Amino acid sequence: MSEQININKNLSDEEIYKQILPQVDSLLKESEPLISSLSNLTSLLKDAFTKISWVGFYLSKNNKLYLGPFQGKIACTVIDFGKGVCGTSALNKKTIIVKNVHEFPGHIACDSGSYSEIVIPLIKDDNVVAVLDLDSYNFSAFNETDKYYLEKISDILINKFSFENLI
Ligand code: SME
Repeated sequence: MSEQININKNLSDEEIYKQILPQVDSLLKESEPLISSLSNLTSLLKDAFTKISWVGFYLSKNNKLYLGPFQGKIACTVIDFGKGVCGTSALNKKTIIVKNVHEFPGHIACDSGSYSEIVIPLIKDDNVVAVLDLDSYNFSAFNETDKYYLEKISDILINKFSFENLI
């Protein structure tokens, strides 16, 4: 089925999030495979915000994160819990905002042009089932507004899908 998303990009980040939130809800269809929803969501976010250089999901299995649907340059495929920004977020079950990735100990540089990053863990029944990772070529591109709305989007995903046997 064809999908159409309407985004007015001449707005503040907060207003863009407010615009896309109801559209995210209708884009994520419980009746279809989760992988399709995750793929479309990465496209929606990349399209909505010019500040995003890379956006994607890493899917969790046995304390490792495996590359899932994404938009952007090719990326590392496996990250151990505790390693890099994604693995640290998964281990600590907390969203991490990094203003300058070059100053983050153990940062995994998939794209040397990346400057800042936000990682949101998706937690179901106290287990991290995935992380949502966004990178930017801009310094300090992500803030508490991104955290608030990306956590809301993650909550919609967690509430709609089981994430079981995804990988
Ligand atoms: N920078 C991440 C690795 C994933 S790439 O950015 C796509 C990290 O340190 O976790």
